[in-house]
Amino acid sequence: MIECVECIFIHEFQLYMPPTAFSAAADRNKAHILTTLQTVLPPQGSALEVASGTGQHVAWFAAGLPGWTWQPTDARPEALASIAAYTGQSPHEETPGRSQVSSSPSGGLTQGGRFGGTHEETPGRSQVSSSPSGGLTQGGRFGGTLANVHPPLLLDVMAPQWLPADQQFDLIYCANMLHIAPWPVCAALMAGSARHLAPGGVLVTYGPYLEDGVPTSPGNLAFDVSLRTDNPAWGIRRREDVEAAAAQAGLHLRQRHAMPANNLLLVWAA
Ligand SMILES: C[S@@+](CC[C@H](N)C(=O)[O-])C[C@H]1O[C@@H](n2cnc3c(N)ncnc32)[C@H](O)[C@@H]1O
Repeated sequence: MIECVECIFIHEFQLYMPPTAFSAAADRNKAHILTTLQTVLPPQGSALEVASGTGQHVAWFAAGLPGWTWQPTDARPEALASIAAYTGQSPHEETPGRSQVSSSPSGGLTQGGRFGGTHEETPGRSQVSSSPSGGLTQGGRFGGTLANVHPPLLLDVMAPQWLPADQQFDLIYCANMLHIAPWPVCAALMAGSARHLAPGGVLVTYGPYLEDGVPTSPGNLAFDVSLRTDNPAWGIRRREDVEAAAAQAGLHLRQRHAMPANNLLLVWAA
């Protein structure tokens, strides 16, 4: 889903921007998610994003929550260039002991090259502002460098160690990964989050879920079938199963926010 390779001419120098991926779903849902995060989170803190994907979310949230510092990550090396482009950063040059590098994420591109599919069909585009001195452009890319975003790191949730043990975060944020990864990734997300959440910190997951006693939308059912067709290990997760995996790691569901297009934003804490 690489949309373009931008080539910008500045004076007489040719400056090649890294490949920038674009997710229409992330473009649609980022404003709704930010609005909810602003009600859930205190004004300041440190955030680790797991499975950042294109980088559209972290760029949007870093601008909308300026009191927070953000560490984007993804398991796919090719995602890092896109995240860096959206946030005006350079991908982190590997520093021994800083990041856990794993060559094979448990999810990722399908045979058809789909970048982690979506069922979201909400019409309309997010409101974006543009600013000549730096700001979010129409594509949601930041025109300058977002000072509150660290360069992206490789992080596979399945790695036994994510980051140095003393690195703790007030927020761990993970959107749209659980359904596009094998089920054991859920337990790994919970265990790793429990290791790296600061006291009082929260894990926020966002995406589609099935819930006992809640009718599932036809769109979610069709999306689940298409996921399992692409990869039998994928599929929309039962919220109750995710709760059980969280409990194994000592995390519990504290808030449930119904979001547009049959998604949930779930807040987990010790
Ligand atoms: C559908 S994309 C979601 C991207 C972004 N969070 C969003 O909502 O737009 C799923 C992402 O999960 C990442 N992913 C899959 N398995 C992973 C794993 N084991 N560890 C970390 N990231 C993983 C993929 O590389 C991909 O970027």
